[in-house]
Amino acid sequence: MTSRSPEGGWPRGRILRRMAIPAPDQAAGARTYELDRAHVFHSWSAQALISPMVIAGAEGSHVWDHEGKRYLDLSSQLVNVNIGHQHPKVVAAIRAQAEVLCTIAPQHANDQRSEAARLIAELAPADLDKVFFTNGGADAIENAVRMARLHTGRHKVLTTYRSYHGNTATAIQMTGDPRRWANDGGATGVVHFFGPYAYRSPFWSDSTEQECERALEHLEQVVAFEGPGTIAAIVLETIPGTAGILVPPDGYLAGVRDLCDRHGIVYVADEVMAGFGRAGEWFAVDRWGVAPDLIAFAKGSNSGYVPLGGVVISAAIAETFAERPFPGGLTYSGHPLACAAVVASITAMRDEGIIENARRIGEDVLGPGLRELAERHPSVGEVRGLGVFWALDLVRDKATREMLVPYNASGEANRPMAELVAACKERGVLPFANFNRLHVVPPCTITEAEAKEGLAVLDEALAVADRHTSGSIG
Ligand SMILES: Cc1ncc(COP(=O)(O)O)c(C=O)c1O
Repeated sequence: MTSRSPEGGWPRGRILRRMAIPAPDQAAGARTYELDRAHVFHSWSAQALISPMVIAGAEGSHVWDHEGKRYLDLSSQLVNVNIGHQHPKVVAAIRAQAEVLCTIAPQHANDQRSEAARLIAELAPADLDKVFFTNGGADAIENAVRMARLHTGRHKVLTTYRSYHGNTATAIQMTGDPRRWANDGGATGVVHFFGPYAYRSPFWSDSTEQECERALEHLEQVVAFEGPGTIAAIVLETIPGTAGILVPPDGYLAGVRDLCDRHGIVYVADEVMAGFGRAGEWFAVDRWGVAPDLIAFAKGSNSGYVPLGGVVISAAIAETFAERPFPGGLTYSGHPLACAAVVASITAMRDEGIIENARRIGEDVLGPGLRELAERHPSVGEVRGLGVFWALDLVRDKATREMLVPYNASGEANRPMAELVAACKERGVLPFANFNRLHVVPPCTITEAEAKEGLAVLDEALAVADRHTSGSIG
């Protein structure tokens, strides 16, 4: 069901438009950098140790700097620009909405908010028919957990160690990666467990089937020992993203659904990164035919053109708040500019076959191409992913699977990864790197030719990582 033209060009209906890159303006770039370093306080960083890249503009799968250098964006920025940069229909919708009504209080109704909610409810599985809009992913998670707690009258929330759920008090406490450590204590009732990860199995399993079975058995035991009657929700990234694009084995999510049903636990799917095309599906849970009780979304819903997130809510949980107020709200819940971008984005994704494109690029180009790189490069231990959601798990030794850099490495310990990222950028590719992994996460609109161009650059750049291995390829 591909929507590509015969020569593999732009998706059907896509307005062919090539934005001329403005003439390089190095002085503007230098001034921007100087002001940034003087006044901007950046996320997750030791402020004196960073050197932000100045981006002047973007279109489609590319961004460029003030020197006029173009980069193929294999990061989709923070894995959110699913529809590509500056999609003309989304830009036009925001512009048109700005002329009509820039903002409105959350207690009123608005046509763009109503339509965005209708479209999202239509895409969501089962009876998830209502949408609570937030400003981004973390507050979507925060509110999903609040709903689950009030709906069940229970307090605890279970989630995996290998996860990221956001930066607000509960969401950061739920996060399993090291960003939680300095924030521990901000919330209560969060319990972590191990999800499936066959390549580095926490369960000593030697097949994905065994990994699935043992991961479910482990979760069953965690639930039993925590006390099922104390657990409000199990919150799972459908495909843990920043933690390594850990595609769950078939049967795992259905097993979690069943466990939740048996114990009256709310199943919350965190689809902030995996949703809206990233995994080649509208929602990644669709791939396994599983219906959660709540879905948290953000990023790809409008590709971050205007910040927005939300929670899609099942009929039963919505009913809890039919006669009783939901104790939560945000000034910008369902912001008209953000909702206009959602409406235009979902419509363009449908009309242009963008989800199908992501799936096909994964199946026909990125999957085979990355696996081929793994065969030739001693540093590539495993390739995993689907759609436009891929990770290279990099190793020092394929036999021992020792990570190319240690977990949470920084500074000198992280040098091999820093060199690899620099090698990609030198060759005009922006990757997404985390710990010992290189993530290949381009916009869902990437063309076959662009994906192949990216693979060719990765092939060259990986030689840098290979130098840090023992050299074995088997
Ligand atoms: C799975 C997941 N959940 C939640 C979040 C938090 O989203 P935001 O940064 O929009 O608050 C992220 C962000 O990367 C994410 O990947």
